[in-house]
Amino acid sequence: MGEIDGAFIQAIEHRPKPAIVEAEGIPLIDLSLLNTSDDPRVLAGLIAEIGDACKNWGFFQVINHGVPSGLLWGLLTAGKKFFDLPLQEKRKVRRDEDNPMGYFDTEHTKNVRDWKEVFYVMVDNGNVNSASHEPADQELHKLINQWPEYPPELREACEEYSRSVEKLSYKLLELISMSLGLPAKRFNGFFKEQTSFIKLNHYPPCPTPQLALGVGRHKDPGALTVLAQDDVGGLEVKRKANGEWISVKPIPDSYIINVGDIIKVWSNEKYESAEHRVVVNSEKERFSIPFFFNPSYYTVVKPIEELIDDKNPAKYTEYNWGMFLRTRMTSNFKKLEVENLQI
Ligand code: SIN
Ligand code: FE2
Repeated sequence: MGEIDGAFIQAIEHRPKPAIVEAEGIPLIDLSLLNTSDDPRVLAGLIAEIGDACKNWGFFQVINHGVPSGLLWGLLTAGKKFFDLPLQEKRKVRRDEDNPMGYFDTEHTKNVRDWKEVFYVMVDNGNVNSASHEPADQELHKLINQWPEYPPELREACEEYSRSVEKLSYKLLELISMSLGLPAKRFNGFFKEQTSFIKLNHYPPCPTPQLALGVGRHKDPGALTVLAQDDVGGLEVKRKANGEWISVKPIPDSYIINVGDIIKVWSNEKYESAEHRVVVNSEKERFSIPFFFNPSYYTVVKPIEELIDDKNPAKYTEYNWGMFLRTRMTSNFKKLEVENLQI
């Protein structure tokens, strides 16, 4: 058995155990009904399924989602070419404390090093860097995508892919809004100048997968995450009902959707943002690409008025998403070795 650096070693209680693969696992939802049926009962059924998944799991998978498979394939292929470069080449587009976009070979979750390397891309530079922001938003102006010389197609692959996944994200946001009994577009206004990101994750084979994790346990802080994974598997979700870690079986051409902390707050905890982690293995490398669908920088996050009343008072005080994001991405970066930089 090979040795690994102690920084990667998880405390005993957090080490991966053989995960439970449930016959059914997280709910699987077929979105083709959106295009094939005009029957309002069919739409109501789909909305109810999504609502149940958000409530009971905070996670579900979708098929027939409308994202052309070639876009993901193109991005995965370009991403692999990039990660295959020598480390000194990748470091030419390295994130640093001024600009957390780009490549990084070290990431920590809850103070333990994750077994992976990453490449961060802001989805729409135009949004965050637009002149409309207050001076207080200056810090985010430093978020500038860095593109490697090779492979030259990486930039376009990222941009095309994100445009398509963004459409899917809006569709899901609208279904989630309706599942809460709200108008379909109730949340859309929050995303006018969205601060969404994609992250290319590469998990190399690990000689001691029983000691380390690809990503330690965490919840996603944004609104929604739309995750693509290859066929290797490794994602585990903590089941709300019994605290067991359940592994998410890769399904070809599907996306894994998870509710982030913002939707949990908007829904006043009707919906769950579930803990999840990634286990690694000694034989195969794995690639995944989360799209973090995040609202505008200046969004004040708090439970939606329509969902609170005397009997059901707000469970959260408001917070400013941009300030949260800035702290997470910039000042925390300086304490790189000890902070969780998950976004
Ligand atoms: C993450 O949650 O950060 C990554 C998920 C994955 O790679 O499956
Ligand atoms: Fe995550």
